[in-house]
Amino acid sequence: MEAPHSQAPADPSPATHTVRLTVDSAELMRETGRRLAALLRPGDLVMLTGELGAGKTTLTRGLGEGLGVRGAVTSPTFAIARVHPPLGDGPALVHVDAYRLGGGLDEMEDLDLDISLPESVTVVEWGDGKVEELAEDRLHLVFDRPLGDDTAGSAVDDGGDEPRVVTVTGLGERWTSPSAVAGLAVLGAGPGEGADGSGS
Ligand SMILES: Nc1ncnc2c1ncn2[C@@H]1O[C@H](COP(=O)(O)OP(=O)(O)OP(=O)(O)O)[C@@H](O)[C@H]1O
Ligand SMILES: [Mg+2]
Repeated sequence: MEAPHSQAPADPSPATHTVRLTVDSAELMRETGRRLAALLRPGDLVMLTGELGAGKTTLTRGLGEGLGVRGAVTSPTFAIARVHPPLGDGPALVHVDAYRLGGGLDEMEDLDLDISLPESVTVVEWGDGKVEELAEDRLHLVFDRPLGDDTAGSAVDDGGDEPRVVTVTGLGERWTSPSAVAGLAVLGAGPGEGADGSGS
């Protein structure tokens, strides 16, 4: 039996904090994005890792709703990055799909991402090994399909809800401060749960 561990790793050297949540449906993934938005502020970088159809864009859609930005978040077919301006006082959302980005940061710079970073929340799909240099403090979400046995090719199956396990790791001082850790604990507690900071 594996207990859902949501404690910070014991290693003191790299400042990280991890929570894990199980998200049972696409709608709940969207809700998770909305709830995550409440923890974000200008300058934050969020990296999303997971196979095709894992739910990265679905979470980002909710995140855009939570931030209150203009335009529906979609999978950018042509554009690599899309800026969603804020409707109110909050930060813009910069949504990057780095899937077709070969060159990493060099190409990212052409997108002027580093200019918008301090004022925006930047969410990057498929950014592993490409965008880490943009920010030492970052939130890394890894999406897994625990029931993915017979989907070896892992086609994107629309419709049917199936659970996803999302492992959220906060890196750097920004995400290991007591208030950030408390916020992540609430996120890990799941929708409907109150501020039930279950310790570290
Ligand atoms: N628990 C779940 N969480 C999120 N999406 C789910 C869930 N169960 C089923 N789905 C479905 O899986 C699909 C997820 O698609 P989405 O575009 O969010 O994936 P993605 O990770 O962004 O893929 P890509 O790498 O192609 O951009 C949607 O069709 C959604 O309805
Ligand atoms: Mg996507």
